[in-house]
Amino acid sequence: MDATLREGEQTPGVSFTIDQKLEIAKKLDEMGVHMIEAGHPAVAPDVFEAVRRIAWMKKEGEIRAEIIAHSRAVKSDIDKAAETEADRIAIFYGVSDIHLRAKHRKTREEALSIIGEMVEYAKSYGVKVRFTAEDASRADLEYLEQVVKTARDAGADRVSLADTVGVLTPWTAQKFFEHMVKAVPNVEYDIHAHNDLGMALANAFGAVMGGATAVHVTVNGLGERVGIVPLQLFAVAVKVHFDVELVNLSKIMEITRLVERYSGIEVPYNMPVIGDYAFLHKAGVHVAGILADPRTYEPFPPEMIGRSRDYVIDKYTGKKAVKAKLEKLGIRVDDDTLMKILEEIKKSNLRVLTDDTLISIAEKVTGKSLRPKATENIEAIAWIKVDSNVFTSSVARKISMIDGVREIAEVTGDYDLMVRIEAPDHKVLNTILDSIRGIKGIQSTHTQIVLKKMDKSAP
Ligand code: COA
Ligand code: ZN
Repeated sequence: MDATLREGEQTPGVSFTIDQKLEIAKKLDEMGVHMIEAGHPAVAPDVFEAVRRIAWMKKEGEIRAEIIAHSRAVKSDIDKAAETEADRIAIFYGVSDIHLRAKHRKTREEALSIIGEMVEYAKSYGVKVRFTAEDASRADLEYLEQVVKTARDAGADRVSLADTVGVLTPWTAQKFFEHMVKAVPNVEYDIHAHNDLGMALANAFGAVMGGATAVHVTVNGLGERVGIVPLQLFAVAVKVHFDVELVNLSKIMEITRLVERYSGIEVPYNMPVIGDYAFLHKAGVHVAGILADPRTYEPFPPEMIGRSRDYVIDKYTGKKAVKAKLEKLGIRVDDDTLMKILEEIKKSNLRVLTDDTLISIAEKVTGKSLRPKATENIEAIAWIKVDSNVFTSSVARKISMIDGVREIAEVTGDYDLMVRIEAPDHKVLNTILDSIRGIKGIQSTHTQIVLKKMDKSAP
């Protein structure tokens, strides 16, 4: 059950446009997600509109997944949710004593009748109803049983037990669900696991082992505070441990990037599975291992999710890694030279050695020119500072008329403009740069040659 559009939009700083939500919903559906929680229609007009349009896409047969509208246990929220014509209304209510007292100011008995009444009210619209027991993991267990019975008897076919502040552990999650499945049968259970202690994914597994049949996830793990279970990690872990492909794994990086872009929240480098470093090896012993057999240091092949492996070169590198890297760059050296190059690398103390620096070191050691001749298709970026009394846009317009200029962007920081240039060779590139420098109002320029297009997985 993907909640990127509802829970995910509760991440600080995140607000998707309606079009972005439609696109994300479509992608999630293509991947094979079974249910999509599209939003809480009572929150704002655009949230309502997005849920309505996603529900329409479902009706038109453009989406297969079940579409869910979120709602508080109040009639006005339920009315709005029903108006979207979503397949299911999910009603939430805090059921721990903390939530009952502080938030709802209701007794346990009052809460039971509200829950029963509101589930029935939603059912009267002829839709499926899920009841979410918010803060279920901190609720009194016997009371929780009454809550779930009440929701079930009022017509809810699913009940989500929320670990709202992420305090379950994998084993307590399993026991918790085992207990509830037995104590209150004839209803399907969801796990909604928050990641406050970094346990959400493991707790979701515990819950599934205990009998939960739906796991709430979001793309990139977005959600309130530090979020919930990341869709990609759950899907890959299920594949690795149970050899079950819940969603199309080859689409995982596509949806990662899409949601990074639309949410403005970048996945950390060291995020499992989807982070830039997930298949980037470093220490010499490790790289020697993966060169011999990647299974030595990878739990599953990156190709499984359409990614590839690589390794970095720095002072932690060994001979085998350098040799392989040089060969990749078309440079073959004897063992003596290799040792000397490795010594230079160890002395250089650079954080990361780029291919270019490695070639320079190899050239220094061998005394030979090893660089392939750049004869065609040079790409360069020119950073431009504009005089303070000149309009940046007028300078940009003049630059855009120069042949070879492919892209201009206004930037903030030390420079005002970034210009991407393509030239057939160095001579032409210099001519283009001279033309740019000749434009009035340019204070300074700084040019960088793009040696190789960066793959996102390379630092
Ligand atoms: N069922 C019924 N009422 C609930 C509830 C629930 N599950 N959860 C909270 N409430 C009540 C609170 O008791 C409080 O009521 P009060 O004003 O009588 O004290 C109110 O909802 C929440 O306070 P507030 O946010 O100030 O109310 P509001 O009327 O201005 O706004 C929303 C309500 C829902 C429109 C607004 O909070 C919002 O846009 N929220 C975003 C969605 C959200 O919070 N989702 C939580 C998902 S877990
Ligand atoms: Zn949540």
